[in-house]
Amino acid sequence: MTIKTIRTVAQTTKLGQWLGQQLPIGCVVALNGNLGAGKTTFVKAIMQGMSSEDSVHSPAFTLVAEYQAKRKKQTFSVYHMDFYRLETLSDMDYLLFAEYMDDDTATKLIEWADKFIEQFANDYLSIEIKATSLNDEEQRQFTFQVVGDNAELKQLLKGLETYRV
Ligand SMILES: Nc1ncnc2c1ncn2[C@@H]1O[C@H](COP(=O)(O)OP(=O)(O)O)[C@@H](O)[C@H]1O
Ligand SMILES: [Mg+2]
Repeated sequence: MTIKTIRTVAQTTKLGQWLGQQLPIGCVVALNGNLGAGKTTFVKAIMQGMSSEDSVHSPAFTLVAEYQAKRKKQTFSVYHMDFYRLETLSDMDYLLFAEYMDDDTATKLIEWADKFIEQFANDYLSIEIKATSLNDEEQRQFTFQVVGDNAELKQLLKGLETYRV
């Protein structure tokens, strides 16, 4: 587990851009934290780090948004999902998400992931974002954890340990 204290939106953006450059293509990122914590803001920064020109919005209504990303010469898809509006997972929902989650070539970024992530992934990077100060509106605590046994994600977590905000 690695914890980073962030003091400004600019620091969130820088961290997200860095992560976007490092994230193994095809991995799953579970984003958690209350409304307004900064999950969508962080996804925007990750997409910048992945050299995407697509506009990023919370897919709270559409459930899934697909973006195109690039790393060096390789292009790949990113599925941005949001479980916020789902109280239960119907069979239809399950089938919809399973199809995206089973695409190993695409990176998956999921807001409110903890609600249902266990039904879709064994190995993922978990990121919890928390506002931690009443006085300082932009302060956030980012907690990174690797769930499961993914060597690339564990390596990435080591890189995060030495990342300087
Ligand atoms: N350090 C920070 N990191 C991310 N967002 C921040 C930060 N400080 C303030 N904010 C603001 O908090 C809000 C976060 O909204 P959003 O990213 O949509 O949250 P969520 O997707 O978690 O509901 C934005 O208005 C953003 O500008
Ligand atoms: Mg959001």
